[in-house]
Amino acid sequence: MDLGIAGRTAICAGASRGMGRAAALALAREGVNIVLSARGEARLAAAAAEIAAATGVAVTPVAADHATPAGRAALHAACPAPDILVITCSPPAMTPDFRDIALADWQASLDTSFLAPVELMRLFMDGMVERRFGRIVNIATVAAKLPSVPRLLSGPSRSALHNYAVAVAKAVAKDNVILNTLLPGMFLTETLTDRLAADAAARGVAYEDERDRYVARFRVPAGRFGEPEDIGALAAMLCSRFAGYVVGQSLVVDGGLVNSLY
Ligand SMILES: NC(=O)c1ccc[n+]([C@@H]2O[C@H](COP(=O)([O-])OP(=O)(O)OC[C@H]3O[C@@H](n4cnc5c(N)ncnc54)[C@H](OP(=O)(O)O)[C@@H]3O)[C@@H](O)[C@H]2O)c1
Repeated sequence: MDLGIAGRTAICAGASRGMGRAAALALAREGVNIVLSARGEARLAAAAAEIAAATGVAVTPVAADHATPAGRAALHAACPAPDILVITCSPPAMTPDFRDIALADWQASLDTSFLAPVELMRLFMDGMVERRFGRIVNIATVAAKLPSVPRLLSGPSRSALHNYAVAVAKAVAKDNVILNTLLPGMFLTETLTDRLAADAAARGVAYEDERDRYVARFRVPAGRFGEPEDIGALAAMLCSRFAGYVVGQSLVVDGGLVNSLY
């Protein structure tokens, strides 16, 4: 299906690897020109070159920490009028004991996974409203809906982000600016694959055996962990011309782990 967004421009913030990169690639496959950002320059340059070579669209790398005002200003300077904004970051550190979370940890969590997307959205919102087209997708986490101690630096800030996104989504939907949030469960991006590889090495088993053992342990109904492409494709769909009536939703994408009727 043609998503009706060829020729548009997207900022994919936090997209040199993982789900952000997969979203950028899915959008590029639809003919969307991409401004791709991350902090590390080498991986960013490589990802930009790969996506451009695979799809033929223009891909502009911008090395920027979007948790800082300077990083957000660099993105605005590179692309003042995007049609599409996809925002994510790396999974925040796990916290085995809530007592060990210091004020500075909360500040870093809020800066990166709440205030950064809020400020990025604010930066580009008025232009989208004026042009009467905007699609914004935050790639957050299922921990926003599923509180747990190890995910305290990840979940609460994303619950707040979704609360903000729903409120703003309702304010700008009539202008065809559409905000939605994806809530991934367990995905085979490098944070998880590195952990599986280390555990496999420690146990002296193959990576695939360790991966399958984890899938069985977590009882993932889909029988596998997510691939970045699973999120990339959904992000592109929520950025499509046809997504204009999907307002302020949060979609859990976790292979069926946390389905609940109520
Ligand atoms: N993987 C999972 O199993 C899993 C599970 C649940 C939820 N999630 C959520 O899914 C989202 C994406 O996770 P992922 O596994 O795809 O992450 P990832 O593989 O670590 O990729 C994150 C990307 O964002 C960039 N980035 C991180 N912080 C940034 C910042 N402050 N400014 C600019 N770029 C930044 C990283 O590059 P640089 O480091 O070079 O900046 C990288 O390109 C996160 O919100 C995470 O919490 C992941």
